[in-house]
Amino acid sequence: MPESISAGIHDLSFATTEFVLPHTALAEHNGAEIDKYHLGLGQRSMSVPAADEDVVTMGAAAAAPIIERHGTAGIRTLVFATESSIDQAKAAGVYVHSLLALPPATRVVELKQACYSATAALQFAIGLIHRDPTQRVLVVASDVSKYALDSPGEATQGAAAVAMLVTANPSIVRIEAQSGLFTTDVMDFWRPNYRDTALVDGQESITAYLQAVQGTWQDYRAQGGRPLEAFSAFCYHQPFTRMAYKAHHHLLDLNGQDAGQATLRQAIEPTTAYNAVIGNSYTASVYLALTALLDQADDRTDQLLGFLSYGSGSVAEFFAGTVVPGYRDHLHTARNRAEVDRRKPITYGRYRALHEQSLPTDGGDHPTPEETTGRFRLAGIRGHKRLYEKG
Ligand code: CAA
Repeated sequence: MPESISAGIHDLSFATTEFVLPHTALAEHNGAEIDKYHLGLGQRSMSVPAADEDVVTMGAAAAAPIIERHGTAGIRTLVFATESSIDQAKAAGVYVHSLLALPPATRVVELKQACYSATAALQFAIGLIHRDPTQRVLVVASDVSKYALDSPGEATQGAAAVAMLVTANPSIVRIEAQSGLFTTDVMDFWRPNYRDTALVDGQESITAYLQAVQGTWQDYRAQGGRPLEAFSAFCYHQPFTRMAYKAHHHLLDLNGQDAGQATLRQAIEPTTAYNAVIGNSYTASVYLALTALLDQADDRTDQLLGFLSYGSGSVAEFFAGTVVPGYRDHLHTARNRAEVDRRKPITYGRYRALHEQSLPTDGGDHPTPEETTGRFRLAGIRGHKRLYEKG
């Protein structure tokens, strides 16, 4: 690819769920002080999927505005990133491909490595575009974060999908070539195939995340990456938004820089608006941080952004991107805000019932209740096959 052609994010859109549980309702149930959630974790509410929503319906809803705006020409690859997979064999992206009526001449694949895999998808997409700049790659990151009821992780649950159209000469963010990588075998968070809730060692996971910040940053610099002073803001993976502050504090410490409250707030606060009210969306979280930053009033034109993508287990990557002049004309700001605002608050009891619900496994014909007002719904399961339809 000629050097004058850059690659990156050309369009960016997200979707979340029908329902929302405020942390006040959770605190009322378990007796926690609300400031533990609002201040200690930096979370206000969590998105809760309706009975007829899942990673496919959210993923398709996130990608639909992109397809409506740009059409399908040039899209020959759809990469679906998730760690809340619905099938051990079939990629969830194949259902999205069908719901969006993408051309048959498309490769579709699902990627998994905890919360990290959307970044792998983005990098693979950029690789494909370097090979053929006429191609465009649809990356969909979609997850439902689910922990056991009454466990410490419960307050960090959430659900959302982000879709990105990755192209040459992008309109929103140009991604730079240097990346800092870090992988280490650690059991901080995992979900065996027989469980639908994650297992986690909370404190170990925070330590592992901070270790990954250090490892990726050191590798990023060793690869010729830019100095810390070059960056204007940082989009971190946000399992809860306070984690981004902890991570940035650590990065500043590593660089011998002042980590005062004002410095931290300036770098991180503009990235937290969506994650604070949606909760952990695993693979989508770091790109929700980007969306929140760009949807803010401040002009970010030509600013350099740092991205830290962390997936427990663990694999992490630090990379950089520059905001493209005119980016604001390509955002979905009003739609994004409406997507958050349209959620219906539910009681703790209703949330608990949804949490405990799972699809029948007997192979029978089981329609799901019509709950979502979203664009796509899981109509039911019949003969072990999921059936989707437009909402
Ligand atoms: N007012 C203000 N702050 C309060 C408070 C109050 N009344 N009560 C407690 N706090 C603060 C605590 O001091 C603490 O802050 P610091 O860490 O800055 O000290 C914070 O609130 C949380 O309190 P605890 O540590 O006591 O909370 P906990 O042990 O019940 O659970 C958790 C916290 C371990 C993060 C838990 O929510 C959890 O297990 N979450 C899932 C795992 C996770 O998100 N890990 C993050 C890194 S791993 C990753 O990023 C991958 C991924 O997506 C899962």
